Amino acid sequence: MKKINLYSFVVVLLLASTGYPLAQAAENSAGSGASVGGIPYKKDKRGLVFADIKRGEQIFSKNCSVCHGVKAEGNPTWKIKGPDGKYTPPPLNGTGHAWHHQRSALLRTIMQGTKKIGGSMPPFAGKLSDSEADAVITWFTSLWPDKAYEIWSKGRPHH
Ligand code: HEC
Repeated sequence: MKKINLYSFVVVLLLASTGYPLAQAAENSAGSGASVGGIPYKKDKRGLVFADIKRGEQIFSKNCSVCHGVKAEGNPTWKIKGPDGKYTPPPLNGTGHAWHHQRSALLRTIMQGTKKIGGSMPPFAGKLSDSEADAVITWFTSLWPDKAYEIWSKGRPHH
């Protein structure tokens, strides 16, 4: 546990020192081509398709933003357990620890929720398809700072 915290701390320091603006990632475009659902088939600098990012953002705003915040910023007190013994919704925008979990683990949390393991997030299985949940993951990972995204996309998160 201590090691993870120290590691996160170092990464946060690195990120802070580069002053990387979080929202910029989604705006850098490269390449062009056909259109998907009216949105030109363009990719951001990480190869994420804009149409997927946009779709994910819409699904997120309908299903998730009520808890995780409109920009996935989470609750400011997410690290502290409430009087009910439960945590409040964490940020998913790269300032939390979602990037410590592989895509499959994120998908599992979204589909199964956390109620069965003592948390308070409802399951989305049956409500969202895998493809919809996947688009949401694409959206919030597009917000992550380069360093966090790089570690995550190379499959080297902690869990
Ligand atoms: C009712 C509030 C609520 C809603 C709605 C909700 N969540 Fe959560 N979510 C939480 C809480 C609280 C946690 C922290 C785990 C816990 O203690 O329950 C969490 C944790 C997570 C995590 C794990 C984050 C990490 O750092 O490990 C992911 C990923 C996630 N939520 C994604 C989503 C997505 C995507 C949606 C919408 C499809 C969603 N959540 C909807 C409350 C919510």
